[in-house]
Amino acid sequence: MTVPSMRLDGKVAIVTGAGSGIGQAIATAAAEAGADCVVTELPDRIGRLDEVCATIAEMGRRGIGLPLQLPDMDSMDSLVAKTIERMGRVDILVNNAGINIPMDALEFTEEAWDAVLDINLKGLFFLSQRVAKEMVAQGEGGKIVNIASQNGVVGYYKRAAYCSSKAGVVNLTRVLAIEWAKHKINVNAVGPTFILTPLTQSTFDDPVIREDLLRRIPLGRVGRPEDVVGAVVFLASPAADLVTGHTLLVDGGWTAL
Ligand SMILES: NC(=O)c1ccc[n+]([C@@H]2O[C@H](COP(=O)([O-])OP(=O)(O)OC[C@H]3O[C@@H](n4cnc5c(N)ncnc54)[C@H](O)[C@@H]3O)[C@@H](O)[C@H]2O)c1
Repeated sequence: MTVPSMRLDGKVAIVTGAGSGIGQAIATAAAEAGADCVVTELPDRIGRLDEVCATIAEMGRRGIGLPLQLPDMDSMDSLVAKTIERMGRVDILVNNAGINIPMDALEFTEEAWDAVLDINLKGLFFLSQRVAKEMVAQGEGGKIVNIASQNGVVGYYKRAAYCSSKAGVVNLTRVLAIEWAKHKINVNAVGPTFILTPLTQSTFDDPVIREDLLRRIPLGRVGRPEDVVGAVVFLASPAADLVTGHTLLVDGGWTAL
């Protein structure tokens, strides 16, 4: 028996929100596994992609930075069109871009609710739809990996909108998996626990919250972006050809407790 490959050689991957944190680590890992990468950032943060594109180039892969403003439909159309124009194809989409606006449920504003749901769920869906259309046209299948969260399956304080958006991503992943299976497009999600990134730094700086988080993680530590990349590369690779509709939790045991 041959062990199935986790290599991504010859593939073109789009990784959204790759200028920092988990997205940057995923793009670097995808390139290390052999993929050429289109990495995205908000238009006013596009300079943050210089470092990750340089790292990808050092690995002998192509790395192209493009702007993306979710959930703007024109921005998504432009990203997909430029990807095809410059890379010729797209095989992998990692929907990583996302935000959290922590707020007590009794105080939550409509503006904050809409912002979180629009970026984390609506944007993720419509970008997936656009990329899937290209994959269907190419006729060779594809892999979509959604960065959900453990907060897609359990709740946490001050996260009414965030947990709702990530639970939506978990179930949307199942719907897209069954609808697009006939096109050999696998759709899966990864659900990380708390990972130390710019998104979560202020949360970790609060000693009370920090202690609460660590108490809930049987493996006894919070995550690093590098902890997430193995699951993503696996789900994007031929080793996961028969895996679809699944959310792989990278949670240190939080949801097992
Ligand atoms: N850090 C954690 O503890 C943790 C845990 C579970 C899941 N996640 C998820 O992982 C993903 C990455 O989080 P991170 O911690 O690396 O955060 P981060 O803030 O470092 O990165 C988020 C990225 O998304 C981009 N982005 C924000 N709004 C956008 C928009 N409207 N359109 C396009 N791009 C936009 C940001 O510019 C940034 O590049 C998110 O989906 C997040 O929900 C994070």
